[in-house]
Amino acid sequence: MQTIPTQLTAIFHQAIQEAFGFDADPVVGLGQNPQFGDYQANCAMGLSKLVTQKTGAKTNPRAVAQAIQAKLQLGEMATTDIAGPGFINIKLSPVWLAQQLAEVAADGRLGVAKATNPQRVVVDYSSPNVAKQMHVGHLRPTNIGDAISRIVEFLGHEVIRQNHLGDWGTQFGMLLRYLEESEVHPEAQVSDLEGFYRAAKQRFDEDPKFAEEARAWVVKLQGGDARAVELWQRIMEESRKHFEALYKRMGILLKREHERGESFYNSLLADTVKELKALGIAEESEGATVIWVKGFDAPLIIQKSGGGFGYGTTDLAALRYRIRELKANRVIVVTDARQSQHFRMFTDAAKRAGWLEGIEFNHIMFGMILGEDGTPLKTRSGESVKLADVLNEAEQRVLGTIKQKLVERGESMSDEEQRAIAAAVGIGGVKYFDLNRDPIGNYVFDWDKMLSLDGNTAPYLQYAYARTRSVMRKSGQTLPENVPFVLEHPAEIALAKHILRLGEVANIIARELKPHHMCTYLYDLCTRFSGFWENCPVLQSPEPLRSSRLALADLTARTLALGLDLLGIEHPERM
Ligand code: ARG
Repeated sequence: MQTIPTQLTAIFHQAIQEAFGFDADPVVGLGQNPQFGDYQANCAMGLSKLVTQKTGAKTNPRAVAQAIQAKLQLGEMATTDIAGPGFINIKLSPVWLAQQLAEVAADGRLGVAKATNPQRVVVDYSSPNVAKQMHVGHLRPTNIGDAISRIVEFLGHEVIRQNHLGDWGTQFGMLLRYLEESEVHPEAQVSDLEGFYRAAKQRFDEDPKFAEEARAWVVKLQGGDARAVELWQRIMEESRKHFEALYKRMGILLKREHERGESFYNSLLADTVKELKALGIAEESEGATVIWVKGFDAPLIIQKSGGGFGYGTTDLAALRYRIRELKANRVIVVTDARQSQHFRMFTDAAKRAGWLEGIEFNHIMFGMILGEDGTPLKTRSGESVKLADVLNEAEQRVLGTIKQKLVERGESMSDEEQRAIAAAVGIGGVKYFDLNRDPIGNYVFDWDKMLSLDGNTAPYLQYAYARTRSVMRKSGQTLPENVPFVLEHPAEIALAKHILRLGEVANIIARELKPHHMCTYLYDLCTRFSGFWENCPVLQSPEPLRSSRLALADLTARTLALGLDLLGIEHPERM
């Protein structure tokens, strides 16, 4: 099913053409006030000037709206009326809604159409630095990037996930040097990534001889020395084990084949610099190669005077590779907002180089996770909070609640199921709380809010899902297939309209790259479902209402499940 605004827009385009002999955007959007219309077309005000110009006869917006209305071929879909200066209000008809629901219910994609012009979209997300444990700050690029990838992919685009690991650079000198030493000092274990990194850094800072040797290791590594590469790979392997375990726990779809760390671009850096120089975009300055970008006081250094390359050079090489080799039409990179200047600088250079012609580039910037005191979240001893510890605590907290509830209700549940639910709700709660806001803002990490069963939280949605499922189970009904929908009560009509908006919302997210629209959508879905549930008797209703309402409940649950899937949030059948 094409989204409702898409369908309406097509019908309005035609009406405008017929009424005035030219084409214009009908400006269809959601109705401001659902009492008057579900959607509205706001083009009449803008069009009246144009029509007056073209026809020579003064035409006011209301007359324009009337002329369009007279040509509308909405069939059974909707009725319209004109309000105020010339808004065309569109009210969808229950009969048409019922037909659409039947179509959606019979479709595994729940009526979400695939893109007519599928793109190839590279999404660079998560991208932690190796040889360190992921900390709570990595929740955001990992979680937001994963949700975006899932949604864009579901809409029929080809998504190429890229994990731009920080796996290269001078810090490896000290790590390799220390790893070499660790074979003599068994207390230095690379499997303890955090301790290993800290110990290496300490040696580097304290011992000038160590530091000097560390620098020699950088050169060896860059020169492809076999021993250096072997040690480097051991660090990579340990880091990878750590990342993969966390991705798995969190339901993140990044796999090893998506790894394209900074090291991957190493062999492409010199050529990238050469091309930018040849184009006259990069220039020599005091022995270094730099790019000046309008509006910035300092240039972007792409090659240092010693010959070394930097983070920016890698990003330029990566962008060029994604466009030329991966043949991306769109590139999305998720990083914290503090990198905004870096991104503006290198994308400006890429634009001037002509690389971005016909390519859409998006930098999704996200804000920080704060502690209660409003400063970046830290442990009590001032260290960064490990992501694994956050997930552990989330599960523990929920497990405690489950046990308590079971005692209160005098029910029992296997330990295994308790743990599975605790993981789904705990980790779902953390992820959802992070997604349920515009990425750009900072937020305060709040256990009570994210794990609450009230309000717009994962536990609330998961509970709503499980409850709907249990109602269906208890009704003892197996849902007859292809039931005709009958929409009578305003509450069930409101629910039906909302269910049909899933594709519209997914498309908005793919465009704006803000997953919280899905959160709002799902929360509203639950609110409408409650309205339906309170006002529309199901099992006591006569046929065909009874089957229709059961099917509507079932469709609500499926919509909720799909929406949560698209956010990467689990939905247990029982809670
Ligand atoms: N490794 C970087 C960090 O931890 C993020 C890399 C993001 N991607 C990129 N193409 N710059 O901040």
